[in-house]
Amino acid sequence: MSDDNGELEARLEEQEEFEPPAAFVEQANVSDSDIYDEFEENWPDCWERAASMLDWTDDYDQVLDAENPPFYEWFTGGELNASANCLDRHLEERGDQPAIEWVGEPTDEENVTLTYRDLYERVNECAAALREMGVGEDDVVTMYMPMIPQLPVAMLACARIGAPHSVVFAGFSAEALATRMNAADSEYLVTCDGYYRRGDPLDHLSKANEGLDSVEHETTTVVVDRLGDDGHGHELDDSQHDWDDLLADHEGAEIDPVDRDAEDMLFLMYTSGTTGEPKGVKHTTAGYLSWVTWTSHSVLDIKPEDTYFCSADIGWITGHSYIVYGPLSLGTTTMMYEGTPDHPDRNRLWEIIEEYEATQLYTAPTAIRSFMKWGHQYPDDHDLSSLRLLGTVGEPINPRAWKWYYQHIGDEECPVVDTWWQTETGGHMITTLPGVGKMKPGSAGPALPGLDAQIVDTNGEAVDPGRAGHLTVQKPWPGMLRTLYNNDERFVDEYWREYSDTDSEDMADWVYFPEDGAKVDDDGYITVLGRVDDVLNVSGHRLGTMEIESAIVGVEGVAEAAVVGGDHEVKGEAVYAYVIVEDGQAESDEFRDEIVTAVEDAIGPIARPEAVVFTPELPKTRSGKIMRRLLEDIANGDDIGDTSTLRNPEVVEDIKTTLDEE
Ligand code: WT7
Repeated sequence: MSDDNGELEARLEEQEEFEPPAAFVEQANVSDSDIYDEFEENWPDCWERAASMLDWTDDYDQVLDAENPPFYEWFTGGELNASANCLDRHLEERGDQPAIEWVGEPTDEENVTLTYRDLYERVNECAAALREMGVGEDDVVTMYMPMIPQLPVAMLACARIGAPHSVVFAGFSAEALATRMNAADSEYLVTCDGYYRRGDPLDHLSKANEGLDSVEHETTTVVVDRLGDDGHGHELDDSQHDWDDLLADHEGAEIDPVDRDAEDMLFLMYTSGTTGEPKGVKHTTAGYLSWVTWTSHSVLDIKPEDTYFCSADIGWITGHSYIVYGPLSLGTTTMMYEGTPDHPDRNRLWEIIEEYEATQLYTAPTAIRSFMKWGHQYPDDHDLSSLRLLGTVGEPINPRAWKWYYQHIGDEECPVVDTWWQTETGGHMITTLPGVGKMKPGSAGPALPGLDAQIVDTNGEAVDPGRAGHLTVQKPWPGMLRTLYNNDERFVDEYWREYSDTDSEDMADWVYFPEDGAKVDDDGYITVLGRVDDVLNVSGHRLGTMEIESAIVGVEGVAEAAVVGGDHEVKGEAVYAYVIVEDGQAESDEFRDEIVTAVEDAIGPIARPEAVVFTPELPKTRSGKIMRRLLEDIANGDDIGDTSTLRNPEVVEDIKTTLDEE
């Protein structure tokens, strides 16, 4: 890791400290610092606290079954239903309170408010419709939908009948949809005709249909009519049903929530890893739901009377955990908006916050960096005093952006929670408790109560405070992924093999490795420095370099390709592709466009390369390994260090010159 180390150290930045605002602490859901000791002394029973926030139809017998690590089971023997926890239990007290406030993009269109009762009714109708279509318990239902209210309705309807959902981000390509439906053997798809983005009614169904063409089995599709007269004139075929017709057929239906075992799958979420094939992260009913409920309460400080706003997309884990399941489980009002923060203009988010008097804002550093670039006159023009807490997620936040957020959005009156977690962890892992801990811009904070995070060297030994190392989690937690769908072996290989004694049956010998670099300070505050594997973080979106490379080498005329992340002021990282063409292939702009299109087709516009650099060779070690770090240095315009271990050192200057010329 010596090679890694210098680079990680270089990413450390100066820090300062801020105390949580007194007015916030006074009302915080959690404000007693004893919670850290209590949870540690009482582990794993401390997690009963999270479980007790849910309604169970059958009590669990055991908090943790660690007989077969790393295949842990939580709250075993218990039964519950996630949709009942997000809906039914709130009806009596707050049936008329908004559950979802939805803001569509066109300003001349009415926004939608779904009260808890409305949402309950829609979910029941949808559950009845899905069941009639043949969806049974444990059938995976894929959703390929943008930010429209029908998405959470469909998710909760699936949860109600015990059918796991697999939501595919709407910005992903047709090919990405097909890969995920094939991998999950998913026979059902819920999608829509299109949606609005930056003023245009986008055609989504053509992309969905193209994906369906590559699905290897029979499918049934439900299509939401989002665009009405702005639609693209689609005709549905025999395997496709109109959402409104289906729900109307089941008007007033009530479907008993199915009792799910604590460990039954609630959903699958595909995410990127180091190989080309996406990983199907499996989350369970009790462990996941208790985790997101507890962290929504303790970290986001959500109360039922709040209007909570997370600007993420439900197509990613942040939206699952902290737009849908966590907030609704707590009975609060959760916001959803369609479109982007800069359309119709850069006031979009601030207008929404002002109009709905939002109490929390949870967003990504990449968005904050854009807001900074645009200037504080936009938020300054709006009354944001309803805000009580700010959060960030998805990538490291630089102290300058943190301070801007704290000052210009929070008016120095809102604590900022910088939450480190992953698709795999289900919910928050490392962050301050906003009513308890001081804040240090750039540092996420200590591990949450009941978690054991350590920074280690390659031998698994804890490194000294201030030094860069690998982040590890040394004890299991309820919200953790249970496995990779249909691939237990890859689950062990990807997350556990690095630092565990995999022959041991003792959980003390099993260590989870999230593939992030980090450092810890003397006070236990952890600064996450970024991925140490071949996964990129572009605008908080996770992309595998291998996925992009395989799309590029699939283009006729490409001999070899290497993809790395270069620093980017707003996106955090940007995709740089180095490409060797085959003999006779012209290194033309047209060919460059072809490569870019191939990446968009395989993954989606989010993976679009910032630069495609043609090169006669890639820098390789004598053993033939591509020196990715050198390619990163070149992308960043950094000094290239020692190239003497290269087989072909002369190539470095060539590539630099080509990139400079572009
Ligand atoms: C990766 C996980 C967490 C939901 C959204 C992304 C990076 C996430 C932080 C943070 C520094 C962060 C890590 C992690 N990351 N949050 N607060 N500080 N880095 O989920 O797509 O599974 O990506 O995002 O590198 O491993 P994801």
